[in-house]
Amino acid sequence: MTYVVIDSCIACKYTDCVEVCPVDCFYEGENMLVIHPDECIDCGVCEPECPVDAIRSDTEPGMETWVEFNRKYSEIWPVIFERSDPLPDAESHEGEDGKLEKYFSEKPGQGT
Ligand code: SF4
Ligand code: F3S
Repeated sequence: MTYVVIDSCIACKYTDCVEVCPVDCFYEGENMLVIHPDECIDCGVCEPECPVDAIRSDTEPGMETWVEFNRKYSEIWPVIFERSDPLPDAESHEGEDGKLEKYFSEKPGQGT
């Protein structure tokens, strides 16, 4: 089992989640993070840290697609384990619908 990051993170990227992860399994894209499903130990400590509820257990319905999404990009993007500033206008994108279609970027982030 694993936790995953869903599209609520896109265009926000608060990064409160990364510093609590005991195994450093968050990876950074240009405008969101993902979790490597094979590295996550399912401890759950990151889930309450996200202010926009973007971290979910794969036991929730409909998460299969997000597990594969997280796996794909965690193998391409750099690891991040230090908190950084949220994206500009993060607050205005909280809770917005359709973020994957509107804003998602496959480009890597800077990483830690
Ligand atoms: Fe890291 Fe635990 Fe969150 Fe998995 S559930 S990403 S191991 S903090
Ligand atoms: Fe994204 Fe939430 Fe972490 S917005 S960067 S999953 S704290």
